[in-house]
Amino acid sequence: MSAHLAIDADTPPPSVADDGVWLRCIECGADHPPFDAVIYRCPDCDGLLEARYNHLPTFADFDGTGVWRYAEALPVDGGVSINEGATPLYEVPRLTDELGLEEVLVKHEGMNPTGSFKDRGMTVGVEIAARLGVERLACASTGNTSAALAAYGARAGLEVLVLLPAGKVAAGKLAQAALHGARILELDGNFDACLDVVADLAAADEVYLLNSINPFRLEGQKTIGLEILEVFDERYGGVPDRIVLPVGNAGNTSALYKCFRELVAAGELDPDDVPALTGVQATGAAPLVEAIDAGHDTVTRWAEVETIATAIRIGNPVNAAKALPGIRETGGTAIAVSDEGITAAQGALAREGIGVEPASAASVAGLRALRNKGVVDADERVVCLTTGHLLKDPDAAAAAGTDPEPVAATTDAVRSLLAD
Ligand code: F0G
Repeated sequence: MSAHLAIDADTPPPSVADDGVWLRCIECGADHPPFDAVIYRCPDCDGLLEARYNHLPTFADFDGTGVWRYAEALPVDGGVSINEGATPLYEVPRLTDELGLEEVLVKHEGMNPTGSFKDRGMTVGVEIAARLGVERLACASTGNTSAALAAYGARAGLEVLVLLPAGKVAAGKLAQAALHGARILELDGNFDACLDVVADLAAADEVYLLNSINPFRLEGQKTIGLEILEVFDERYGGVPDRIVLPVGNAGNTSALYKCFRELVAAGELDPDDVPALTGVQATGAAPLVEAIDAGHDTVTRWAEVETIATAIRIGNPVNAAKALPGIRETGGTAIAVSDEGITAAQGALAREGIGVEPASAASVAGLRALRNKGVVDADERVVCLTTGHLLKDPDAAAAAGTDPEPVAATTDAVRSLLAD
């Protein structure tokens, strides 16, 4: 693991810091000015970059609600906002009993303005884009990123281009990108191919890239971790033992790890209390699980990927170099789950009143699988992230749920049907 990703790394401000913020390469440690030129990777070694600060916030610094409550932990003090964050942390008593755990909670990120956690990153990333003076924003997407970018780009009055894998984006997500006015290109390749193309355009400065390789976007996503820790401590006392989340590009996993590292460095979180980051992928798209199982520091790209959870139908997790140390250093793990397991978990959440899209349910499916394997102990208090709303993928929801029954429009006909 790169020394720069250690859980208690210090952050001395270098000369390139602007407003106390700079970008550091996680591979070679080189520091770069944050806002002078548009860079997504280290100009020296092509490594992933992360934002660093000369001031690490304490919980006492936070004020207000939503993502911008945590402005002290972010690279800018306000953004293009449509009230993202402050999502519910639900109790699921039946699931908790069934899994035989001390506590299972569901952090429902589908309750963000565009229905997924991507809004947390976009409120920061689109603000930075606006400050940089770029005109055209772009992303590759399995759907949610494009929906969020379309909305936040529209809010900022900027042009948005989205590259999507043809036929593999759920209906709700496509509808959002369309109505918010994004230019939508459907490529005859998978998500990874779309990302290759948009990264080429970004490298040539033809677009500003807002995929999770963009280090500023991940800063906004850190606020999921801050919210979980604040609300959990207030309600239950202490810190959850484990956070389970679906993994695609591993951006969220990386963002949560960074959140924990900063809190540890600030003296706000005991290194022994850091929640075990537990990633879940679908068996048909599980390169990160493969790397964790094999003890590798890098992932091998899967050329072919398939799963009902189209949001995480990804074969080349671009943030693996940040996420693999995060999973290992926090004592977490990663597991692959079947599409059947995902659909069953989606149903279990739905029966507790929580509607999520298939990828989101992977977290609960993964927790169940790990519990069955004895990896998760009965005394654990676990938070599952559900990353997107049920309405994102109405077709999957309808297929997994009850079927409508046609009946004549009379009371007698309805009554006799009910009597059957
Ligand atoms: N869950 C949902 C609902 C998602 O849309 C995504 C990613 C993930 C989980 C995985 O998050 O990439 O941070 O590991 N969706 C991206 C998109 C790829 O284009 O909407 P990750």
